[in-house]
Amino acid sequence: MTKAREIHLVTRPTGLPEADHFRLVETELPALQDGQVLVNNLYMSVDPYMRGRMRENAVYAAAYELNKVMYGGAVGTVTESRASGLQPGDVVLSQCGWRDRFVADAGTIERIEPLDRDHLSWYLGTLGMPGMTAWVGLLKLGEPKPGATVFVSAASGAVGANVCQIARIKGCRVVGSVGSDAKAAWLREECGADAVINYRTCGDLTAALAEAAPEGIDVYFENVGGDHLQAALANMKPFGRIVACGMIQTYNNAQPAAGPNNLMLIVGKKLRIQGFIVSDYMDLQDQFRNDMQEWIKSGRIKTRETVIDGLDNAVGAFLQLFSGGNFGKMVVKI
Ligand SMILES: NC(=O)c1ccc[n+]([C@@H]2O[C@H](COP(=O)([O-])OP(=O)(O)OC[C@H]3O[C@@H](n4cnc5c(N)ncnc54)[C@H](OP(=O)(O)O)[C@@H]3O)[C@@H](O)[C@H]2O)c1
Repeated sequence: MTKAREIHLVTRPTGLPEADHFRLVETELPALQDGQVLVNNLYMSVDPYMRGRMRENAVYAAAYELNKVMYGGAVGTVTESRASGLQPGDVVLSQCGWRDRFVADAGTIERIEPLDRDHLSWYLGTLGMPGMTAWVGLLKLGEPKPGATVFVSAASGAVGANVCQIARIKGCRVVGSVGSDAKAAWLREECGADAVINYRTCGDLTAALAEAAPEGIDVYFENVGGDHLQAALANMKPFGRIVACGMIQTYNNAQPAAGPNNLMLIVGKKLRIQGFIVSDYMDLQDQFRNDMQEWIKSGRIKTRETVIDGLDNAVGAFLQLFSGGNFGKMVVKI
């Protein structure tokens, strides 16, 4: 019998989750059947969207079931195989995170030829779902033109840092907002952002944004919501586009928060606001990976990660997403 350790959701949080909403459980894996593989996870992802799956009425991804293992992106290696086309040692991507090993049908996982075996966790960040979110949202929905000003919130995170760097590649002027001076310095010095606001220390965010983007904003890549949306609306140019990717400021609200009080500007400035979910664009995955691999190889995209050690610390890693404890993509090394 092969044992596995996995993390279950045991009660549904109403505000910010706490450690006792989760439980680490030891379990026995079933014997391999034909067409199946045993996979050892190397890294698992923690992502803000997982908070939505902890609600009973999750919006776009199925709710996690109570007392069952949670799901999420993971990269691992095959250790045993009864499936043609998959050998021990193969590197695979799956949605079987939150556990150290698992048995799966071969058709539910993806074998990859890694760009760099020393950086397999990139497949959970820059080369994975968050990177593709940045690529789809900015290029397909934001339609950035050279010289345009792009404002990005949560700009040093998994999605945001890629948005900033892709916007620079496309010849845009980039303004980011982040929660620390260290993140701001990295974004300016390593990722080429033209101006970065520390929203915790800047005072009036609308005024700080007006100073950072005196000509106005053409594209706002929305990751935060609340005061950031309010400030962006005030500073958008006419016919600007808002790519609504996420609103992390609201994810742990026990009660709905008041919205921005300047929504009428959408009318007066003739703005387009487009929400999206990256999983609706999987037909573009090969195109995204080609672009991103080229940009990484040519040094035009840089990746920063916070790597937390051990499945036991995965819940803590997830919770840090809501206080800015991650610098770049948050991953858990199993
Ligand atoms: N639509 C899609 O398909 C899709 C896919 C992936 C992600 N998303 C969304 O994209 C956004 C970013 O996700 P990510 O994976 O890249 O996460 P991330 O940016 O790597 O991590 C979250 C960051 O958000 C910031 N933050 C947390 N709480 C905040 C608050 N109350 N106010 C302001 N900033 C706050 C923190 O950075 P600071 O230190 O800078 O505050 C934190 O590090 C999220 O809204 C997520 O839901 C959407």
